[in-house]
Amino acid sequence: MADVVEKVVSLCKRRGFIFQSSEIYGGLNGCWDYGPLGVELLRNIKESWWKSMTHREDVEGLDSSILMHPDVWVASGHVENFTDPLIDCRNCKARFREDTLSDEQRQKGQCPNCGNKDVLTETRAFNLMFKTHVGPVEEGAAAVYLRPETAQGIFVNFLNVQSSMRKKLPFGIAQIGKAFRNEINTKNFLFRTREFEQMEMQYFVAPGTDEEWFDYWRQERWKWYESIGIPESKLTWKQHGENELAHYAKAAFDVAYEFPFGSEEVEGIHNRGDFDLSQHEMHSKKGLRYFDEQSKEKILANVIETSNGASRTCMACLVEAYREEEVEGEQRIVMRFHPRIAPLTVAVFPLVKKDGMPDTARKITEDLRSEFRVVYDESGAIGRRYRRMDEVGTPFCLTVDSETAENGTVTLRERDSMLQTRVKIEELSSQIRQKMASWKP
Ligand code: GAP
Repeated sequence: MADVVEKVVSLCKRRGFIFQSSEIYGGLNGCWDYGPLGVELLRNIKESWWKSMTHREDVEGLDSSILMHPDVWVASGHVENFTDPLIDCRNCKARFREDTLSDEQRQKGQCPNCGNKDVLTETRAFNLMFKTHVGPVEEGAAAVYLRPETAQGIFVNFLNVQSSMRKKLPFGIAQIGKAFRNEINTKNFLFRTREFEQMEMQYFVAPGTDEEWFDYWRQERWKWYESIGIPESKLTWKQHGENELAHYAKAAFDVAYEFPFGSEEVEGIHNRGDFDLSQHEMHSKKGLRYFDEQSKEKILANVIETSNGASRTCMACLVEAYREEEVEGEQRIVMRFHPRIAPLTVAVFPLVKKDGMPDTARKITEDLRSEFRVVYDESGAIGRRYRRMDEVGTPFCLTVDSETAENGTVTLRERDSMLQTRVKIEELSSQIRQKMASWKP
C-alpha cells in the first residue's frame, strides 16, 4: 500500500503537480515546488478553507509577516520548548529523532541506519526554528526566526483586529501562510517537510466558555474534510494525553487521515487557554485585555485554535484521489479529486481538426473560462485525450463533433463514470455547476 505514495510522487512529477526543489542541483531535502497543476490544487484547497472559515460574521482574515520580532518566540515558548529529541550515530553520522527508535534500538544503542550497536550519542534537545539575520550584521542582536507556526502573527495582532473591526468576543482571526521547521528527518513527500503552509484560526472566547467552543470547532473542522473529497471513513480523532500536549495546550485533538503509511495528523485543534495572550502581555508589557461591556471588566480572552497543514492536506487529497482501474482491458489511472479542488474543471476537445470543430471548441473554451478552469486540447486520438485528463483528475470533458453543427450539442463526459451525455452548448455552465454541487466520492 505504501507504494501508492511512490506512484503519486511519480505522477506528480510526470504531470506537473509537484517537483523536487532545486532538482537540477540534486534537490534540497524537505522542500518541494508546486508545478502548474499542483499550484491550482493547493490554491483550491486553500480557497475552500478560506471560504469556510472567513465567510461568516465572526471570523476576520489576516496575512501577517513571516519574520517577527525575536521576543515573540521567547514569549510564545518556542525558543525554550520547540525542540525535538535528537540523537546522532557516532559511526555513520546519521541523525534521528530519539522517539522514532524502537525499544530494542534504544536499549542496544543501535543505529537504525548502519545497524551498528553502542554507537548512539546521548539525546539532546534540538530547536526546530530556522534562524537568520535582519540587515547586514550577523550578530546575536539582529537574529530573527522564520516562523514555525502562523499563529503568533495572529496573537500579536489580536487588539489591532479587535479594535479596527469593532469585534466582540467570541470572534476569530484566520490566516494562511508559510511556516518553517528544521525537521530532523523529513519524510513521506509533502507530509513532513521543512517549508510548508498552514491554515490556522484562533478563536478568542470569554474565559469559562472555552470548552463549549472547543467542541464547536472540532465539529466544524471535521465537516470540512468531506467538502474537499476526504471521506469521513478515512478520518479519526486522536486525543493528546497529558504528556503529549504541546507546551501551550490545555487540551488537544488531532484530526488524523488514513495515509497509506498509517493514520497521521492533518490538523490539530487546541484549547490554548489564555497562555498566548498572557505571555505576550507579560513580555511586551502591553495590555492585551478586552473590555467586556457586560461585566465592565478587562478580561484576558481564551483561545481555541484550529491548525491545519495545507501542504499535508494536499498530500491527503492526492493519495485519496489516486486510482488504478481496468477499462475495456486497459488500465487507466484516474485522480478522483472532488471537482471543487480539481486543478482543471473542464477540458474541451474538437473530435477532429476540421469542419469548423476547432473554432467551435475554442469558442466554448473561452465562454466557460470566466467561470471554470478550462483547457483546450486537440492533439491525439480522443481516447488518449480522455486518459490524459483522467490522470490529472479533470472531472468534465466536452467534445465537439459532427452533430454539434447540426443541433448545437456537445458530448459531456464525466471522469468517474465515463458516461457521455449530449448537452446543449448554452446549458453547459449550469449542468457543470449542478454536477459539481451534487458530486459524491
Ligand atoms: N499552531 C499550532 C501548530 O502549529 P502543529 O500541530 O505543530 O500545531 C499544525 O501543526 C499542522 O501543521 C499539523 O497538523 C500539520 O498538518 C502541519 N505541519 C506541522 N509540521 C509540518 C511539517 N513539518 N510538514 C508539513 N506539515 C506540517
